[in-house]
Amino acid sequence: MYILLMGPPGAGKGTQAEKLIEEYKIPHVSTGDMFRAAVKKGTELGKEAKKYMDAGTLVPDSVTIGIVRESLANPECAKGFILDGFPRTEDQAVALQKILVDLGIKLNGVVNIVVPDQELVSRVTGRRICKACGATYHVEYNPSKVEAMCDKCGGALYQRDDDKEETVKKRLEVYHSQTAPLIEYYKEQGVYKEINGLQAIDKVYRDVKSSLEGGN
Ligand code: AP5
Ligand code: MG
Ligand code: ZN
Repeated sequence: MYILLMGPPGAGKGTQAEKLIEEYKIPHVSTGDMFRAAVKKGTELGKEAKKYMDAGTLVPDSVTIGIVRESLANPECAKGFILDGFPRTEDQAVALQKILVDLGIKLNGVVNIVVPDQELVSRVTGRRICKACGATYHVEYNPSKVEAMCDKCGGALYQRDDDKEETVKKRLEVYHSQTAPLIEYYKEQGVYKEINGLQAIDKVYRDVKSSLEGGN
């Protein structure tokens, strides 16, 4: 399964990817996660990416495209992957197309999780993530059983630096101007599916799966 997950900040891409990787046993390729890992390690890439992430703007294509090309060429990705958060600009989409042709890969589905803006701010500001395993929670919509502690591994939960209200608003603006136009691009390619992301997490997952497996 070669899957591309699309959607605005807070739509549930990471949440659905967590479930898909468990079911299909394929890697989760998230550019946001890769940048956060680089920030944590304090690498040059991390220092560069952090400036943009904290501002809620996009890391330059010249940086982002290279790390995706490298990840997808990894043998682990040969049998499938879930791409989350890439592409986000037209140049990234064109670059991805070329990477996939070079690797001889055809996407099974481009799944867009649709959620209106007014819902996204509260999703993002209430999000909590496990420091140890990366599992995602929400203080209200998907709370951990014990406050601030991960159900899966007992790790401590934290809030992302870019999950403040002002930054989220900027990220939404950037999404609408630079990323949303890609919907038309993928519609023309015929593998595009739209999912109602306002439903409960498990129902969204059932819809994602059935869209990938040809059920709707
Ligand atoms: P990235 O990490 O990709 O962030 P994003 O796209 O803004 O998306 P999020 O991770 O915020 O949301 P999500 O859709 O994964 O939602 P989640 O499942 O967590 O990118 C971060 C930054 O990195 C960018 O701003 C940019 O600077 C840089 N970057 C990354 N990729 C780049 C690229 N390609 N080019 C350039 N720059 C790039 O869910 C959100 C919350 O809602 C959680 O709390 C969850 O529990 C809850 N939730 C999920 N589903 C539901 C539901 N159905 N009902 C109720 N609550 C739900
Ligand atoms: Mg995410
Ligand atoms: Zn954990």
